[in-house]
Amino acid sequence: MKIFLDTANVEEIKEGASWGIVDGVTTNPSLIAKEGRDFETVIKEICEIVDGPVNAEVVGLKTEEMITEGRKLRELHDNICVKIPMTVDGIKAVKVLSGEGTMTNVTLIFSSLQALLAAKAGATFVSPFVGRIDDMAMPGMDLIADISQIYENYGYETEIIVASIRNPLHVVDTALYGADIATLPMKVLHQMAKHPLTDRGIEQFLKDWESMKS
Ligand code: G3P
Repeated sequence: MKIFLDTANVEEIKEGASWGIVDGVTTNPSLIAKEGRDFETVIKEICEIVDGPVNAEVVGLKTEEMITEGRKLRELHDNICVKIPMTVDGIKAVKVLSGEGTMTNVTLIFSSLQALLAAKAGATFVSPFVGRIDDMAMPGMDLIADISQIYENYGYETEIIVASIRNPLHVVDTALYGADIATLPMKVLHQMAKHPLTDRGIEQFLKDWESMKS
């Protein structure tokens, strides 16, 4: 399973990358705005840190605007993946950009039918937002199971990025369901590494080791 970081914070990305297990980065306009820095500068910096897809999202809503933005973004670095919202205009833009060999990620996916359209348009990735579905009192991970089954039925190569991950259980489910990628806030990456019994075990081992010396 691949792990992407879902942040536009360069310090967090440097920290995550230093672990040696980060395969890519996803950003969105909200995450970029949170940093209060120039969009292209941030994206270029991220591309220098992580050797994998770096997702940069378009903000135009019309197909032509998305295509123009996408073409400009992909010039920033070979690893740029153009992130496009799931609309009819977006699907048309994905068809064109994918046809030109640009990596695309269809985002804000909330149904299996949206994911089917994205795959048919040639999207490299789809991003179903599991946390936001959970927020509606519906099981977000059910959508991952449905999309996985549909892609398997027809041999679509579009990879599933489980997005809007809020907690470690979402990551466990991503792995159990066999989804391709989990994109995580840095906090969840830290939570994955921690277990109180590990800390207690280390403490006991060191205590016993020291007692041998006295
Ligand atoms: O990967 C999508 C993510 O950035 C959205 O997360 O927590 O705002 O639903 P959230």
